[in-house]
Amino acid sequence: GKESAVTITVAGASGDLAKKKIFPALFALYYEGCLPKHFTIYGYARSKMTNEQLRTMISQTLTCRIDQSGNCGDKIEKFLQQCFYHSGQYNSEEDFSQLDKDLKEHEGGGLANRLFYLSVPPDVFIDVARCASLRASSLKGWTRVIVEKPFGRDSESSAELTRGLKNYLTEEQIYRIDHYLGKELVENLSVLRFSNLVFEPLWSRQYIRNVQLIFSEDFGTEGRGGYFDSYGIIRDIMQNHLLQILALFAMEPPISLDAEDIRNEKVKVLRSMRPLHIEDVVVGQYKSHVRGGVKYPGYTDDKTVPSNSITPTFAAAALFIDNARWDGVPFLMKAGKALHNRRAEIRVQFRHVPGHLFKRSFGMDLDQATNELVIRVQPDEAIYLKINNKVPGLGMRLDRSNLNLLYADRYSREIPDAYERLLLDAIEGERRLFIRSDELDAAWSLFTPLLKELEARKVVPELYPYGSRGPVGAHYLAAKYNVRWGDLGSESQNA
Ligand code: BG6
Repeated sequence: GKESAVTITVAGASGDLAKKKIFPALFALYYEGCLPKHFTIYGYARSKMTNEQLRTMISQTLTCRIDQSGNCGDKIEKFLQQCFYHSGQYNSEEDFSQLDKDLKEHEGGGLANRLFYLSVPPDVFIDVARCASLRASSLKGWTRVIVEKPFGRDSESSAELTRGLKNYLTEEQIYRIDHYLGKELVENLSVLRFSNLVFEPLWSRQYIRNVQLIFSEDFGTEGRGGYFDSYGIIRDIMQNHLLQILALFAMEPPISLDAEDIRNEKVKVLRSMRPLHIEDVVVGQYKSHVRGGVKYPGYTDDKTVPSNSITPTFAAAALFIDNARWDGVPFLMKAGKALHNRRAEIRVQFRHVPGHLFKRSFGMDLDQATNELVIRVQPDEAIYLKINNKVPGLGMRLDRSNLNLLYADRYSREIPDAYERLLLDAIEGERRLFIRSDELDAAWSLFTPLLKELEARKVVPELYPYGSRGPVGAHYLAAKYNVRWGDLGSESQNA
């Protein structure tokens, strides 16, 4: 409840994720009045730092939302007063005992809950979990631990990590983040499907021709090459973010909104997926490109990346779900860095209208005239449906128009960052948006054989220029299943 104290310890406090996402999200929650009244935030890391230095570091990352009251500066000050720093090793139980003492002082002996955010490199996940659990668990309240990918790099290493964590924590204490599940439009997927009569009846092979899950970024790995090179885009984006969206999109209706009911359905759909073959995958890597006098670096120009790296920065894949609902429907995924835009979206292309009565009235290829539902996760959150419509006037001419729900027009509220929702859920014990271990296993089972084969065969990625639309191989892959990528069509630009 709101009355019990909570302390949030961010291990890895000076890292990128902490600075860019975790502290700002905690502040936003505080600002909105969502944190319990008695809260304390601890930064934990190896380097020496004073409380003041931590506060300065955090304050540089905080921004005020549209603040009508003008007292945001005040709130920042109050928030920072609740932030403290403790330096220690990640594998030292003694250091965590010291932390425990500090935490107790702030908790003042009442009911106190503890949340640990492991924003640390994967090789110390288990160390921190062990030390926190053995030496800094709450005696009177709950202790929860948030972990974030990489959860291993294949089935075996992921299972090993899970075993390691479970030596010290129960599954109920582990909150595995996939921050895409905290995005507004991803959470809205279930609402769209299950609270509108008009969509769910169409949600099957009977009406849907294909589904596309698209992620693109208009910047490269800049500075993160060290991490990225041993993972690659398939592990970085597809195995988690895009697959999670796919699971929510394709799962059967859960029997309730309880976390276990939803996650049961997600696991079922993941386990119904057909093994992914290398013939159904295209990999790419960006190369340097000069545009407007500016030279954009190639992936291997990054100093933290070996110059002969064949790690993919782009991948496209065709996946299938072998169940009654989705038999034969291609689910196409595409993810890439250093492309022409930053976007994440789901595109649902519907079948042709049988016996098309209006075929003569189209100025376009009939294949392009099917309905398409687009759920744009970011930027400019939107849901729109492409429909065929009569162009007003005396003749009978049809065109495609959008029924458009653009969030910025419809809702004046700013959309919270994914980490705000997820941190709040972890504090409240709501597990719906976190990954259960069997879900993680199923996700790895799907991708591990493919990843191993790509690595064993040393598949060389197709090079694409920085800022382009990616390798042409992605078009051939789609064409093999009679699909055209919806994000590359001419009309998609004006949406
Ligand atoms: C992370 C990936 O999980 O997601 C990054 O590791 C990627 O490579 C990021 O840039 C994208 O997240 P968002 O929320 O900015 O779309």
